[in-house]
Amino acid sequence: MVSGLQLSSLTPTPSRTTQNEIKWLEWMKQQDDPFPALKVFSENYHYFSINQAVSFSRLLTVVNPYDRESLVFMADMLHQELGGGQQDRVHSVIFERFAKAVGVDLSKLPLAADQVVEGVRWYACELDKGFGGSLPCALATYQFVEGSGVDTYAPLLDILRDMGIAEDDLEFFTLHAEVEIDHTAIAANIVKRARETFTPEENQIFDTQKWLLQRAWEQFWGDILLACQRETSSLVAN
Ligand SMILES: [Fe+2]
Repeated sequence: MVSGLQLSSLTPTPSRTTQNEIKWLEWMKQQDDPFPALKVFSENYHYFSINQAVSFSRLLTVVNPYDRESLVFMADMLHQELGGGQQDRVHSVIFERFAKAVGVDLSKLPLAADQVVEGVRWYACELDKGFGGSLPCALATYQFVEGSGVDTYAPLLDILRDMGIAEDDLEFFTLHAEVEIDHTAIAANIVKRARETFTPEENQIFDTQKWLLQRAWEQFWGDILLACQRETSSLVAN
């Protein structure tokens, strides 16, 4: 856990929960058998989870090597994402436990880029481009990813618990619902310091990247919803 920062002094970032994520959660609650949809979600989300960790690592190459304060926090987050030195604690491995519990055949994972829905592929591509882009672009991406985690995991966890999934299999979500709160506050602090030095043009790049990611994130959930609906109705028809 990252320490040494006065979290209480930080301003929370605004909510990034998308309309489509809310629609997906509402639709999932109404399903008599949500497991076919959860399988579709898990296969797609796994692709995102695997790729975003690689993309995140690009951030370390963009930050000024003399900005040790930011680098220490970012490296610590990447270390956590990659299991803190333990292979079975890598976050995508923890996610695979959930995927298996909802019926995913793990030998099919990771899906190839052309097997995931377009919104997931688009968002993953924008993250990769963003984390490896200019400093304003990379920091906007970093802040967006951390904030979207806070908004996503808590409501999703509530619904998964209501579906009766065992607590052990929900570890990916319980872990993130907790750690992303600290991570978001840390990201906000790093971004605030950096933005004080940005030119108006750099601030514009930052804002544009946030706007772009919000659009991609909206489509991410919209396309997951459509894929889940398609899967569920094809099973009913057969
Ligand atoms: Fe993670």
